[in-house]
Amino acid sequence: MSVTVAVIEGEDASPEAVRPVVDLLDGLDLGIAWVHSSATADLDAADCCLFGATSGPSARALFHLRWGRETYANVRPVRYLRGARSPLAAPQGIDFVIVRENLEDVYVMAEGALADLPTPTPTSLTYRRPIGELGPGRWAMKVITEAGSERVLRRSFELAQQRGGRLCVSAKHNMLPSTDGLFVEIARSMAPSYSDVALEVLIVDDLAHRLVREPHRFDVIALPNLYGDILSDLAAGLVGGLGVAPSGCYGDDYAYFEPAHGTAPDIAGTGTINPTATLLSACMMLAHLGFDAAAASVVEAVEHVYATAPSALTPDQGGSGTAASFCAAVANARHRS
Ligand code: IPM
Ligand code: MG
Repeated sequence: MSVTVAVIEGEDASPEAVRPVVDLLDGLDLGIAWVHSSATADLDAADCCLFGATSGPSARALFHLRWGRETYANVRPVRYLRGARSPLAAPQGIDFVIVRENLEDVYVMAEGALADLPTPTPTSLTYRRPIGELGPGRWAMKVITEAGSERVLRRSFELAQQRGGRLCVSAKHNMLPSTDGLFVEIARSMAPSYSDVALEVLIVDDLAHRLVREPHRFDVIALPNLYGDILSDLAAGLVGGLGVAPSGCYGDDYAYFEPAHGTAPDIAGTGTINPTATLLSACMMLAHLGFDAAAASVVEAVEHVYATAPSALTPDQGGSGTAASFCAAVANARHRS
């Protein structure tokens, strides 16, 4: 079996995380052909893509990977690795997955000036007057579609079936009964088809509070795009920060894998970016490609290094390692007998 993976290293410190991860994976001798390109044709021809983080030119490729290939389910596991630096007193055992709708909501990026709205302008239910009478300002559009919600919720229910059988769906449906209400309504309408999954619906501010106070209670959490973006960063903060937060974005016929973090420009050039998020994203990719045993062995080696070798970790986790030396420690841990 021959597999092709497109690699986009991204900007700032991101390549410093991606390169040692690709080296580590290459050392597994799985027969993966790496194509370093962000050209649309190369991305499409590859079986999937490993993406770093973007603050510049590679954003174009990101747009293609998400909206071009409709990778609508952004799966962001939140699992505490023993030895990671959590601000919580008892983070051990935190293990849930955020499934973020990845394409719509305010990410349709349609904004404009209030003055340019066609008249008569829509009436604000809270102000009880036309939006056009609120003075100079801007608007943004939030779009929740039936098909877009249905497909990401289907993935979420299926993931809950494979995991602990619990799905939490959350939005601001009290204030946005039409848009967020639709997301919740579709989840409720699907629930009878997944009788082995317990569905819980929470308003998103309540979820934010509970994520901090009782993170152990969650299994799978499905969220519209913007809440998913924000709360996946919050959730990463619970278990050690963005340096340990991986993600995979899945569509019906394409998937790509990227850390949830940004490009860390403040530490670019130091080699100290934490590659764990990229490495765990790469493990999600290996599992997606059918290399389940290899993926599990790397994850297990990461766990081993976190649990036993604090100084091998990168500075964000209290260690003195670099991205390269951490990946070397993980590779060594794989070979221990
Ligand atoms: C993420 C990032 C992106 C997003 C940015 C870089 C556009 O924050 O993947 O979470 O908002 O989706
Ligand atoms: Mg984000």
